[in-house]
Order: sequence, then structure tokens, then C-alpha cells
Amino acid sequence: MDLDPTEPLRISRFTTVTWEAGELVVRNLRSGRALVCDDAALVQVLHWFRVPTSPAQVDARGGARELGVDVIAACRTLAAAGILVRPEQESRPPDVHGPLDPSSYWAAPELALQQYSRECRPQTLARYRFEGLTRSEPHAKPPMSGTGSGNGSGNGSATAIALPVPEPAAIDFWQVLLRRRSFSPPSATISLDQLGEFFHWTARSWDARELDDGRVLQHRLYPSAGGLYAHEIYPVVSPGAVEGLAPDVYHYCPQRHALEPLGAEASLVAELIERGASVSAAKGGAELPLIVLLVTSRIARVAYKYDHIAYVSQLKDVGCLYAYFYLVATALGLAPCAYGGGFETELLAGLTGVDPLSEPIVGEFGLGGLDPAATPEPPWPILSAPRSGDG
Ligand SMILES: Cc1cc2nc3c(=O)[nH]c(=O)nc-3n(C[C@H](O)[C@H](O)[C@H](O)COP(=O)(O)O)c2cc1C
Repeated sequence: MDLDPTEPLRISRFTTVTWEAGELVVRNLRSGRALVCDDAALVQVLHWFRVPTSPAQVDARGGARELGVDVIAACRTLAAAGILVRPEQESRPPDVHGPLDPSSYWAAPELALQQYSRECRPQTLARYRFEGLTRSEPHAKPPMSGTGSGNGSGNGSATAIALPVPEPAAIDFWQVLLRRRSFSPPSATISLDQLGEFFHWTARSWDARELDDGRVLQHRLYPSAGGLYAHEIYPVVSPGAVEGLAPDVYHYCPQRHALEPLGAEASLVAELIERGASVSAAKGGAELPLIVLLVTSRIARVAYKYDHIAYVSQLKDVGCLYAYFYLVATALGLAPCAYGGGFETELLAGLTGVDPLSEPIVGEFGLGGLDPAATPEPPWPILSAPRSGDG
């Protein structure tokens, strides 16, 4: 870009400053260009351009000369790298009906993650960077209740609740596909058998095989990157959501096919249920017969193999799990609904005592029963109508 020193410039909102192996690196996510800040004066120049100002104005202030910086030359370099931009380049155009610049649709952290997750070449996918440094996370999480250990990361005194194992029923798969819808909020209580059946066909660990090197491979019905199956599911059960199951936050143990009660305060259960209910603006809030499934990932298990794409791979895994949640719930006549809003991991970590960095929440899903009398037969109308202007 030709630089007119009298024209205002500003730091692009896609500019990031990171520490990388002892260097301070200024990068622009749109241009893909990066500059190593080997001179602290460059940081000072950036600071001047946090608000729109012209290189000539900055030069005239005298501060630059005291620092011995050639402002015009520095601005030329920064603008060529896309780090400084003309303010109008990243602001709304006056014509509201005109097309927006594609960058308008991106938040900088999302663009950074998108670019980072695309960088890897297939041959470097599985890097095993931690091999030899530490042991891989085991396939199964230690019991969170029923051990009597009371070790602070669970509810040692409460007994795990074994879930029933269902007999496979004949199901018309194509009808399940046709009937699948999001039902939010649910309208009826479900039985423990139904909840057991739901987990049996979705998240249960079906097989575990020990390899020669001591690692254990397990299998669940849904696919998972690297066969790692790092998801853990914490059902938050509201009062009356599941017949005979006390309101609490549970951990679903996929190996034992059991629910481990975590002994949550009623206020935490109410808060988590309220959050779930609020995404559908449902009346009834915490009183709804709602189960909120919080899905976490034991990220170290994934990072051991795919350290640079661990988090993104877990989001893709969640997509697969959601599809199973939806289809199995439909087959069982339950009310499923994915939630798009994020629950803060800290809400759960405060209860489990697990470091949020070790087990972040990667998905949340609503489940409950359907009152047949209140549920019309398909074909159903589109429930959440697109806003006008949608294609
Ligand atoms: C990732 C994801 C997030 C969603 N988030 C919400 C949500 O927060 N609240 C809600 O009521 N529905 C949510 N839904 C459901 C969609 O609105 C629904 O799938 C879509 O409108 C199509 O309707 P159908 O599922 O009934 O076919 C979500 C679906 C997905 C896949």
C-alpha cells in the first residue's frame, strides 16, 4: 500500500501480538504477514496507532524522534504487513445494503483458530509430542463416586447407579431420520430405563483392548478422531426430569455404564438447568423436566497424539456425538436439542475439582421426555423460522 503520511491509520483488529520462542511477534491474521519485534520502539509505534492517527501527526509530536524511530518508515513496514490499516477498511460501509467485506463476519480469535487448525499437513497430524515426556491419559477416567475415597475430585461417599442394558428393538432407521427434530423444551419426565438406553446407544464404551505397550484401545458407537474417545458426559438432572433419579449433576461412566452422583448443591443444579432452559427462552426455567448434558474433553488424551489440533478435533468429535444424541433420542421418542451457547467450564470444575484446562466443556445438549398428547405427528412445521432475508 502506498503510504500517504497525512492519512490516518489504525491497528487492524486482526493484529495479534504473541510470544514465540523468545521473540515478540506481531502478526496480521488477514494478510498472514508477521514481523518480529526486535526493537521495542516498534511496540511504541503500534501503541500510538491504537486510535486513528496519521504518521505525520505522530512524527510531529516529537516522541518518536526522542526514541530514535523513523515513524514513516516503520508505518510503511507495518502497513505493508497489514498490521496498520486505514480505519475505513475495517468499519461498516455507509450503504447498509451494500456487501460487507468478508472479514466483517470474523472475530479475530475465531479467525486465528480457523487458520491455526488448517495449518497441519497430513504427515504431521499425529505428532506424539509428549511421548517420553509423560504418560498418555488413560482411556477411562477414575471413578468419581462410589469409591469411598472422597478425594476431592468427586463424591466418594455416594454410590454409582448402574444403568439398565436394553434389548435392541427393531427400528426403521429411515423413519428416525425423517422424524428427527429439535424439541426445546421437553414436556415430560423420562424413566431411568430410557436414560440408560439413550447412553447405551450413544456414549457407552463397548469394547476395550489392551495393546502390547500397555495402552488400552476402546470403542464407542460414534466415530472419534484417532479412536481416542476423550469425551466425558455430565448429565445435570432437574427435579422430576428422570423418574426415581434425584436432582444432581452426575458423571456418566462409559465403561461401567453407570451414573456417578457428584453431590451438587441444589442452587448449582438450578443454575445449570436455567441456562439450558434459557437458550430456548422456555417458560418454567429450572422447573422444567430437563436434563442438560455437559460434554467435556479430557484434552491431554488428545493432545498426546494431536497436540496442535486437540481442541478443534474435539469440536468435530462433538458434532458426531450430537448426531448420535439426536438420532437415538428420536428413536426412543425423547426430546433432544443441541445448545449453541457455551457454558463456562468453571461452573462444572468448581464441582468436580478438575482443572478447566484439563477437561474443558466442548458441548452442551438438552434432553427430556415428550408428552405424546402434546406432540403432533410429522410432518412438522419448521420450528425456528429463518429471519426474513435468509435464503
Ligand atoms: C450446534 C447446534 C447448536 C444449536 N443451538 C440451539 C440453541 O441454542 N437453542 C435451540 O433452541 N436450538 C438449537 N439448535 C437446534 C437448531 O435450531 C435446529 O437444529 C434447527 O433449527 C433445525 O431444526 P430441527 O433440528 O428441528 O430440524 C442447535 C443445533 C445445533 C446443531
